Amino acid sequence: MKDYSKYFNGPSLKDAKHRGKDAIHHIEDAYEVPTDMIGIGKGQKYFIQTYGCQANERDSETLAGILETMGYAPTDEIKDAQVVLLNTCAIRENAEEKVFGKVGYLKKLKRTNPNIIFGICGCMAQEEVVVNKILEKHPQVDLIFGTHNIHRLPILLKQAMLEKEMVLEVWSKEGDVIENLPSHRAHPYKAWVNIMYGCNKFCTYCIVPYTRGKERSRLKEEILKEVQELKDNGYQEITLLGQNVNSYGKDFDNDYNFASLLEDVAKTGIARIRFTTSHPWDFSEDMIDIIAKYDNIMPAIHLPVQSGNSDVLKTMGRRYTREQYLTLFDKIKEKIPDCTITTDIIVGFPGETDEQFEDTLSLYQHCEYDLAYTFIYSPREGTPAAKMKDDIDIHTKEQRLYRLNEVVNEKALKQNKRFENEVVEVLVEGTSKKDDSMLTGYTKHQKLINFKGNPAHVGQIVKVKVTEVKTWALKGEEIE
Ligand code: SAH
Ligand code: SF4
Ligand code: F3S
Repeated sequence: MKDYSKYFNGPSLKDAKHRGKDAIHHIEDAYEVPTDMIGIGKGQKYFIQTYGCQANERDSETLAGILETMGYAPTDEIKDAQVVLLNTCAIRENAEEKVFGKVGYLKKLKRTNPNIIFGICGCMAQEEVVVNKILEKHPQVDLIFGTHNIHRLPILLKQAMLEKEMVLEVWSKEGDVIENLPSHRAHPYKAWVNIMYGCNKFCTYCIVPYTRGKERSRLKEEILKEVQELKDNGYQEITLLGQNVNSYGKDFDNDYNFASLLEDVAKTGIARIRFTTSHPWDFSEDMIDIIAKYDNIMPAIHLPVQSGNSDVLKTMGRRYTREQYLTLFDKIKEKIPDCTITTDIIVGFPGETDEQFEDTLSLYQHCEYDLAYTFIYSPREGTPAAKMKDDIDIHTKEQRLYRLNEVVNEKALKQNKRFENEVVEVLVEGTSKKDDSMLTGYTKHQKLINFKGNPAHVGQIVKVKVTEVKTWALKGEEIE
């Protein structure tokens, strides 16, 4: 194998694991565009493909904002673009396979158009194995950067334009929150708002604490300013984002926490507030009370359980038992009876027995979730679970996923039936992709609804009578 040591800027999982005690700096001036890069993209186009979670969606909005500051215009056609970025996700093997598929396609594209700048960023760029594979097999890639140095894009792009060799800059340790970044938001009526970055939970199967670094909260003043600006610009809905929003403020030396922030955001009067994701371990009673108290905090909570068996949860490093989870779940339902609760579940974690899987099914029968995202366990190199003996065969894992999904679908339909013939409030997002005579949007309870209504109401919250209920969506008619 070639010696890649000259690429000293590559990622290191060992460094990424480290959680230092260094203070977190909130920096206002880290981002700058070199003067000769302002306007360099005039007349040219960029294309960003985003994989993975909302953190990446939001980062792509920032990348778009930066490229537009340099004069590039967006395009939906990859073939028309002079700058192509893949903002990648490392959460499971199949997420990575998708990206490598696209890399193959881009290599071909670059053969016909060698002037394209082709960059890879996001969570996969934070992994040594991935970067080594790209260096080895895909030298056509011009630029690799990670999740902590997005603000350096103008400088890195300049380097990539000037140099013949691949530009690689990935930071594995971080401690900063950077505030002065531009962005081009994807939606005109609903917006993502980062409230914190990183994760310190280190669930044993999960790569995120390595790819996203240590927990850093944004200052409440910055968050509230952003929400206020969004509201002033006609935004109806915001989603507060963090890998575990409940950890918000734990890096401050005062007792301002997520419940305090949620209340302050509610007081801005913005029409709809959502948040994701909440870890059951530090979901406080104060949070439940605040959600129950304010009408503009939506009654929809994503509360990943991962498994219904306490021993599996322990090996996963989830910090709660089945019983503790159920106590929390029941408390939420008691204080906010109509609350939609959704979850994430992993099947086939190393050593999971048939009985332990049955516990997941029985927990599901109790909780009757509105929806669940279900996954087969995927080993991630560098995580503790990847070293555990994984002796469940793929057929058993697939069987478990199949059985679980049957229950998921059954309960999804049952929960949607709660809204049959009811009048619900919908934020109208536009016309339905499948049928342009129908409008589409989400209810307060985060239900997708397609309905007959007035197209002039796009961007507004309207009342809709539910006429039909399906597993994945509702149907209805707007009422005046
Ligand atoms: N921060 C969020 C989850 C981020 S990842 C939280 O803690 O809830 C989203 C989901 O992917 C996780 O909830 C988990 O169910 C799943 N996941 C994470 N790592 C995985 C792995 N190695 N294999 C399979 N699923 C995984
Ligand atoms: Fe991963 Fe656990 Fe952090 Fe969620 S809380 S991002 S599952 S380590
Ligand atoms: Fe994927 Fe990174 Fe999000 S690994 S799920 S894009 S934090």
